[in-house]
Amino acid sequence: MPIRYLHSPDGLTADKLAPGFFSGWPNPPVPETHLAILRGSRHVWLAQDEVTGLVVGFVNALTDGVLCAFIPLLEVVPSYQQQGIGRELMTRMLETLSSLYSIDIVCDAALQPFYARFGMQPYNAMLKRNYDAQAGRPT
Ligand SMILES: CC(C)(COP(=O)(O)OP(=O)(O)OC[C@H]1O[C@@H](n2cnc3c(N)ncnc32)[C@H](O)[C@@H]1OP(=O)(O)O)[C@@H](O)C(=O)NCCC(=O)NCCS
Repeated sequence: MPIRYLHSPDGLTADKLAPGFFSGWPNPPVPETHLAILRGSRHVWLAQDEVTGLVVGFVNALTDGVLCAFIPLLEVVPSYQQQGIGRELMTRMLETLSSLYSIDIVCDAALQPFYARFGMQPYNAMLKRNYDAQAGRPT
């Protein structure tokens, strides 16, 4: 399937976000909230199926634009996984953020080998999660 990579959610509507994102989340954001996440992020890269027009993968980044960036979400919908889309999204985002000192991601141990391929290294993190807000609350 031909994939086009986009650096902006401009013009994107919620119905163009493919079903299957946030797989396994007990209380996932609805597509409109997902779109708000993309619009509210300083940087995004989107993978769009050129045939269907559906966005099938995305990565977003929050940053101060000077020193630090955080990548909260990277996802490819299950039916498009294992085709190199996640690698391409990460490659593009890391290039976008390449002038910054620190680029952080929090992930499960099982995903550390995936991120190590981009020169990232394991470290420690502290988290707080408000699970009653997991579906998102646009401000
Ligand atoms: C992680 C994820 C984004 C990878 O996307 P993808 O498009 O399937 O990945 P790619 O096809 O680009 O894979 C690139 C390489 O990473 C490997 N890889 C993919 N997913 C992996 C995983 N979960 N753990 C370890 N390696 C993984 C692939 O096997 C592939 O290796 P190869 O080059 O030797 O074949 C995707 O599995 C996903 O959306 N998972 C659910 C959400 C998630 O866990 N996101 C990360 C949150 S921190």
